[in-house]
Amino acid sequence: MVSLRLVATTICCVVFVLGGIPFSSNAQLDPFFYRKTCPQLHYIVHKVVWNASLSDPRIFASLVRLHFHDCFVQGCDASVLLNNTATIVSEQEALPNNNSLRGLDVVNQIKTMVETACPNVVSCADILALAAEVSSFLAHGPCWKVPLGRRDSLTANRTLANQNLPAPFFTLDQLKASFSFQGLNTTDLVALSGAHTFGRSHCSLFVNRLYNFNNTGKPDPTLNTTYLKELSKICPQNGTGTNLTNLDPITPNKFDKKYYSNLKSGKGLFQSDQELFSTPDADTISIVNKFSRNKNAFFDSFKVSMIKMGNIGVLTGNEGEIRKQCNFINQRSTELDIDIVASNELHEEGIVSSI
Ligand code: HEM
Ligand SMILES: *[C@@H]1O[C@H](CO)[C@@H](O)[C@H](O)[C@H]1NC(C)=O
Ligand SMILES: *[C@@H]1O[C@H](CO)[C@@H](O)[C@H](O)[C@H]1NC(C)=O
Ligand SMILES: *[C@@H]1O[C@H](CO)[C@@H](O)[C@H](O)[C@H]1NC(C)=O
Ligand SMILES: *[C@@H]1O[C@H](CO)[C@@H](O)[C@H](O)[C@H]1NC(C)=O
Ligand SMILES: *[C@@H]1O[C@H](CO)[C@@H](O)[C@H](O)[C@H]1NC(C)=O
Ligand SMILES: *[C@@H]1O[C@H](CO)[C@@H](O)[C@H](O)[C@H]1NC(C)=O
Ligand SMILES: *[C@@H]1O[C@H](CO)[C@@H](O)[C@H](O)[C@H]1NC(C)=O
Ligand SMILES: *[C@@H]1O[C@H](CO)[C@@H](O)[C@H](O)[C@H]1NC(C)=O
Ligand SMILES: *[C@@H]1O[C@H](CO)[C@@H](O)[C@H](O)[C@H]1NC(C)=O
Repeated sequence: MVSLRLVATTICCVVFVLGGIPFSSNAQLDPFFYRKTCPQLHYIVHKVVWNASLSDPRIFASLVRLHFHDCFVQGCDASVLLNNTATIVSEQEALPNNNSLRGLDVVNQIKTMVETACPNVVSCADILALAAEVSSFLAHGPCWKVPLGRRDSLTANRTLANQNLPAPFFTLDQLKASFSFQGLNTTDLVALSGAHTFGRSHCSLFVNRLYNFNNTGKPDPTLNTTYLKELSKICPQNGTGTNLTNLDPITPNKFDKKYYSNLKSGKGLFQSDQELFSTPDADTISIVNKFSRNKNAFFDSFKVSMIKMGNIGVLTGNEGEIRKQCNFINQRSTELDIDIVASNELHEEGIVSSI
């Protein structure tokens, strides 16, 4: 099974290269960035993610979400991975992340293997982008050539994580505004929301729809009544909200287009999902219809939108750094170190000029 999927990776991506990919919107990143410095990179990411999935089938969804939560907060710069320290206020404790972010340990497993194979060259931000792509593919979703060359941030911003990450009770207008702030349009919104074709959610994030929606004393009228009964069993009215349920009730672990037919039968889990189809006269309805009918249309849009999302606010060139450990910025030179380096350089210059 493993080798079959590995062979398939190669075939899938070759076909896609021949088909051409519009990644030119950001000329700074390049799918072949590590061709010389870390040719095994994609294989390592693939191997570690596949291994992790054997004991945790949800990991594919968690890694796709992790890349999204990185990119929407000061760009795809691995700021989401930074732990609390004296100078870092971790984004992992922002409301949309706290107790729901997963896959951090798997990213560290990847980084450890990558550092052994090719030390000091591969950024954690690129690992997140690759892990998302590999996860999509291993869950039977699309694959694409991931533009690479991101660098890692020296900062994190919890306030910004609370501000920028969309909430599950957002209306369509709020969702559009949140995505447009990141340079993503309505098609991107509908395509990327399709990632809710797999993974799980806590009851607390949609229980507001089940019993007293918008202070009406009734459930959300757009919610399918059969689905409502199922959800009510898992998420009792005055429960703790900590139970988990599948985002896609029909094919919970598979990356497919079922998300969109779910929306058409009132089975979007979050208000933010159902709004895409149930907002009267919305321009998203026709896109949902198209994706629910045509898997290729969805997969092609998803690839384009993931690449677009992966370009948000990237650091390149000499910006940021390549972290040695994804949870911490590298040790900065102390003033003493800088003095020593500077005086060494002066000595060398002195030698050069005396020749
Ligand atoms: C459109 C606005 C979005 C909202 C409001 C939203 C909200 C949420 C919420 C509340 C959860 C459940 C978290 C939990 O209970 O642990 C979730 C899970 C998830 N989201 Fe989103 N999301 C959005 C867009 C996206 C995008 C753009 C992606 C990726 C491209 C994505 C991928 C996922 C995945 C894969 C999961 C399941 C994660 C897991 O099982 O670990 N979401 N989302
Ligand atoms: C494989 O997964 C197991 C369980 O998560 C983990 O302990 C182990 O380190 C992983 N091995 C590799 C090579 O990734
Ligand atoms: C980072 O913080 C998380 C949560 O607080 C913790 O589980 C993890 O062990 C930390 N990572 C490192 C490398 O210290
Ligand atoms: C994050 O969750 C933990 C555990 O539930 C909690 O103790 C902590 O206060 C939360 N952090 C923030 C910033 O809300
Ligand atoms: C974090 O983001 C907030 C909100 O955009 C901004 O006001 C603040 O300056 C940022 N903080 C840091 C340390 O960059
Ligand atoms: C969104 O942007 C893509 C290009 O990235 C474009 O093909 C598409 O037509 C745009 N959609 C809308 C609704 O503007
Ligand atoms: C919630 O109720 C307010 C008025 O009480 C209404 O304007 C708004 O559209 C409702 N929101 C939804 C999502 O139904
Ligand atoms: C969790 O779900 C089960 C049904 O699967 C239900 O009996 C239980 O009350 C729920 N617990 C909470 C805390 O919501
Ligand atoms: C839940 O709590 C509300 C308000 O505290 C109460 O009116 C309601 O009867 C409770 N529902 C259940 C099923 O316990
Ligand atoms: C609700 O879901 C059931 C199956 O779970 C389906 O038969 C029915 O058509 C759905 N209702 C609507 C309004 O789509």
